[in-house]
Amino acid sequence: RADNVQLRSVRSSAAPQGRTLGATVEAKNVALLGAAGGIGQPLALLLKLNPQITELRLYDIANVKGVAADLSHINTSVKVVTMGWQSGVSGHTGPDELGAALTGADLVIIPAGVPRKPGMTRDDLFNINAGIVKTLATGVAQHAPGAILNIISNPVNSTVPIAAETLKAAGVYDKRKVLGVTTLDVVRAETFVAEAKGLDVVDVQVPVIGGHAGETILPLLSQAEAAALTQRIQNAGTEVVEAKAGAGSATLSMAYAAARFAESVLLALNGEKDVVECTFVESDVHPDFKFFASKVVLGPNGVEDFLPLGELSPAEQAGLDGMNELLTKNIKTGIEFANKA
Ligand code: NAI
Repeated sequence: RADNVQLRSVRSSAAPQGRTLGATVEAKNVALLGAAGGIGQPLALLLKLNPQITELRLYDIANVKGVAADLSHINTSVKVVTMGWQSGVSGHTGPDELGAALTGADLVIIPAGVPRKPGMTRDDLFNINAGIVKTLATGVAQHAPGAILNIISNPVNSTVPIAAETLKAAGVYDKRKVLGVTTLDVVRAETFVAEAKGLDVVDVQVPVIGGHAGETILPLLSQAEAAALTQRIQNAGTEVVEAKAGAGSATLSMAYAAARFAESVLLALNGEKDVVECTFVESDVHPDFKFFASKVVLGPNGVEDFLPLGELSPAEQAGLDGMNELLTKNIKTGIEFANKA
């Protein structure tokens, strides 16, 4: 148990606007599914540095024992529990061990699935990743039905509806707890705006609404350079995919973003007030979209409150109208996939 620990969290060490807690926190169990991947490994490292976490369960269908052995030698204040074959961070491999990784988890983070290669859209990943997310969500329904889910696997616009429908079919769905991680869009928006305006990045906060693909990524920028910056933020994932030239998509920045989001979820689980993040989640914020990314207040049960979009500029309103077709289609595809026999 991580009693009376001073949080040296990702956000508070890397970004001074983050909260630091001196108070006693109740530490939590976190399961990371897809832990040996490009995102999974650096994300596991960042989570290993978060003293809000009691136990970090690493699950993948391949290579995860080495990652677990490696991480378990880090002398952070995270309490790690002996499980199975070694002490330290538990290393699970294979479907049989999914239940062990999930049982008792408060937070389940899912970066499992294939990433984009140059020329691919996030939708091109659907055929493989939809099945992976459905399988893992089925495991969550069975072994960790009360846990909060953070879904990173793309296409997020469809994988979140898939997880939601899968949990619903199992009778354990709580819409406040199934959260698509769109934090990388926020992180990118904040970085690019700070660069363009010559601001200190810690002073910049940009909500990003809609979804997580192409024109459904809508940063709320009310500046003169909004058009160019919006395009850059929408295409930032592709920028990385092209720079990596076949070796994958964003992993390090995504790991940072996921660690920031997980930290906020854990802070809220521990009773911290006014924790606000953008996330893609079932909501009534926009009448046309059953699932939508927007600013939410996080609490002990996941999403506590949805914040209004506020007044949109004409360009932002046009962006919102322009995403209608794609976002509606993405959501429908996910729901239909989850419900087919
Ligand atoms: P990767 O291929 O390096 O790693 C994926 C890992 O998932 C592998 O270790 C693989 O063995 C594992 N995996 C596959 N099937 C599994 C299953 N059934 N159970 C458990 N683990 C399984 O891919 P990378 O770069 O880590 O990306 C992962 C996902 O994250 C991709 O779908 C990618 O598109 C998405 N992504 C999402 C972003 C976002 O902003 N939400 C940003 C960047 C990537």
